[in-house]
Amino acid sequence: MVQKQYWWFFKGFDVRDNKVWSRSFKDCNLDELAKFNPTPLYFTHGKRIEDKARLIRDAFAKNYPGVVDINYAVKANYCPQILDLIAMLDLGADVVSPNEAILAEQRGILRQRIMFTGTSVSKDDLEQLVKFGNYKINIDSNSQLKKLGEHRDEWNIHGLNLSIRLNPNVGVGHNPDVITAGLKNEDGVPIKFGIEQDKIVATFLAAREYGFHPDTLHIHIGSGWLGNDVDSFRIALQNTLDVMNELKEHGFTNLNLDVGGGPGIRYRESQESFPFNTYAKIISEEIEKSGVRINKLIIEPGRSLVGDSTILLTKVNTVEEKNGILHAYTDASMGTLIRPKLYHAYHEIINISNPNGHLKVYAVDGNVCETGDTFTQDHPREIPEIREGDVLGILDTGAYCDVMSSSYCLRGRANIILEHKGKLFQCSKGVEDLNQIMDRFHIATRLD
Ligand code: LLP
Repeated sequence: MVQKQYWWFFKGFDVRDNKVWSRSFKDCNLDELAKFNPTPLYFTHGKRIEDKARLIRDAFAKNYPGVVDINYAVKANYCPQILDLIAMLDLGADVVSPNEAILAEQRGILRQRIMFTGTSVSKDDLEQLVKFGNYKINIDSNSQLKKLGEHRDEWNIHGLNLSIRLNPNVGVGHNPDVITAGLKNEDGVPIKFGIEQDKIVATFLAAREYGFHPDTLHIHIGSGWLGNDVDSFRIALQNTLDVMNELKEHGFTNLNLDVGGGPGIRYRESQESFPFNTYAKIISEEIEKSGVRINKLIIEPGRSLVGDSTILLTKVNTVEEKNGILHAYTDASMGTLIRPKLYHAYHEIINISNPNGHLKVYAVDGNVCETGDTFTQDHPREIPEIREGDVLGILDTGAYCDVMSSSYCLRGRANIILEHKGKLFQCSKGVEDLNQIMDRFHIATRLD
């Protein structure tokens, strides 16, 4: 019998008695967990998030001589109990909407550690953020700066500290749609983020003219890149440091440098984990080479903090061969997890109920009416034998999964449970039922 390699043990799992167990949560048989709780179920290991935060901190402590702030990118997963953990770990937050800022603060992240980097930001957004919230703003367009300037007196924001986002000309990501710097992505889509290199000094000067205090230069070049892409990051960083040298000539010295997020995780056996030591070292080396004096370095990891903390547990209701292909149909869908459809993203699928089973090739499908509603897309793959009633685990579903979900076809969004220090926390109200899905509609209103 060909034995499946359990390369994913390091994410907190064990295989015993032909079942998959959670290692950090003593004696938790994931098969039983899924059988006693509504599925689809996102199950998060809190400890994995703590371990990743420590790993990132240690890499910088060892390889970067200055002060480093870690701002968790809330967009990756805004589950309130994950935010609690982030606050307990003493991290800050990178937020992209006023609501994310408010929730992060409600869950205990310090207001002065929250920075807003929005796109398509309205006057109302800005008013909410700076007037009522007093959150730090990262300027993404000159129009945003102008709006702040025009309302400076009305909102009483004279002397406001600002960050400004640069497009450092080089972008990288696991898919063209998550590349956020450069002119266009590989599909020809024009990049909408940041201020171009040849305009950025003027933006700093304009901010000063308005009586603001731009103290941070920000970049974010894309998401989900690994060790082989760090050279692109290095070039983007060199361009950014050139800009900082230029800014120095205009009296903008001792700025904070925010290099954004992006470090990926190991979704596949053939990939390597992100080299945080190398990353921190590159940042130190390039800063030193440039001669720029940095006040504080800021990083904004999302995926690398929470991505591999979570497994999506889903039950198989049907196994049937169609046109020569074995299909395993589950109670999850592209509404639960859209990344395979949206980005052709690979997520490892394990058979929780039969990890030692004979390998067979399966298409693993969802329960909404779309051909693309399949977690294996155009690559059916080997999985230990799946029987009706088995529970499958879809790995690395902690970042950009539940938060991107929908209730398409009136299939409710998933159940969420987080484990921390040997306790289970029920985070969502089970799988959404019809009433919960319909809550935003006026169902009492009928056409007459
Ligand atoms: N900072 C900024 C300004 C960002 O836009 C992002 C992500 C991050 C930090 C965090 O990036 P991370 O460390 O997580 O790579 N939905 C896509 C990913 C979109 C990323 C958006 N921006 C996916 O599922 O792959």
